[in-house]
Amino acid sequence: MASGLENEFVTLHEIVKAAKIRLNANIWDYLIGGTETETTLRRNRMALDSIAFRPRVLRDVSKIDPSSEILGKKIRLPIMLAPVGSLESFEPGGGITVAKGAGAGNVGMLISSVTTLKLEDIVKGGNGPKIYQLYVRGDDDWVADRVKQAMDAGYDAFCITVDTQVYSRRERDIAKRFVKSWRTAATGQDHQAAFSWANFKKVKDKFPDVKFMLKGIGTGEDADIACQHGVWAVYCSNHGGRQLDHGRGSAAVLPEVIDAVKGRAKIAVDGSFSRGSDIVKAICMGADWVGLGRLYCYGLAAAGAPGIERMVELLEEEMKEVMGLLGVSSLKQLDRSFISAATPTNLPGVHSAFPLMHEGY
Ligand SMILES: Cc1cc2nc3c(=O)[nH]c(=O)nc-3n(C[C@H](O)[C@H](O)[C@H](O)COP(=O)(O)O)c2cc1C
Repeated sequence: MASGLENEFVTLHEIVKAAKIRLNANIWDYLIGGTETETTLRRNRMALDSIAFRPRVLRDVSKIDPSSEILGKKIRLPIMLAPVGSLESFEPGGGITVAKGAGAGNVGMLISSVTTLKLEDIVKGGNGPKIYQLYVRGDDDWVADRVKQAMDAGYDAFCITVDTQVYSRRERDIAKRFVKSWRTAATGQDHQAAFSWANFKKVKDKFPDVKFMLKGIGTGEDADIACQHGVWAVYCSNHGGRQLDHGRGSAAVLPEVIDAVKGRAKIAVDGSFSRGSDIVKAICMGADWVGLGRLYCYGLAAAGAPGIERMVELLEEEMKEVMGLLGVSSLKQLDRSFISAATPTNLPGVHSAFPLMHEGY
């Protein structure tokens, strides 16, 4: 199956442009923005641009397979659609459309607790891995209840986001007096602020068989503590630069997280991963999968589920090209010997991975 958008979108930046045209200015800014000075957001890009490839030649790359596996399920690329709340503001079908897009593209998805998706809707996500992501909005019993509901509903794993103990100041929204309807309705932030390792231990002990993932790990120290608590996966992320400002870029943090985990848990990472080359860099460093946030929202806003599928198709083309030119035919062959530190060549920005966007193409 193909997206049917092969002629409409021949490069990724065309999808970004189409999303910008379709979305109203407030929603666009909400989507692309970060916290205060947006330094963390730019550092996400800068960290990726600070890695160069070390290609190997004269190896048989006549067949290249960029597929991977999560939770025992084969996926087309080592990517998961990251949890994004308020998906309905980008496209009326919201989480249901995203599930269809993930299913059609055969990639994994994390569904945010801010976007509801019922049991009958999850199956629209096809056979791929599905993870439920929670913001803590109640006491330990409330959290346990959500875990049970999600697992009964058929999710494969459960993710708790831990980098939102305080809600950040996103000045693009604040300065425009743009009050998001889903934020006005949100209650229970105090529970998230109070949630600690002890609370997580209680939940984990109550559900010994559930695969837990903690999203928003930003240091080797916390990655180690997460492993001591028996997590299934550590998700290295700074929320796309939307929470703590003046943090480090995720790709700069990833090596210390991987080194601290020492193989005890799976590793996911996100933060400005926008091109096939970015995904390959994460796999070279030792990540198991890459989360995509804004990028798939552009696909969603541009053309619904087929827009997400088209994004996957283009990323696949890019990944195959990079892998072939690095001299590998499968992801398993990638390791740190294929990358080295480098000086970025341009100023980072939320769309700096798409230079042609600004050149009128
Ligand atoms: C509009 C928007 C809403 C988000 N909502 C959530 C959410 O509900 N839960 C969550 O854990 N992360 C949320 N995130 C963070 C993403 O899951 C992800 O960490 C981030 O977008 C990755 O960076 P990228 O957009 O540069 O790929 C959101 C991000 C965006 C852009």
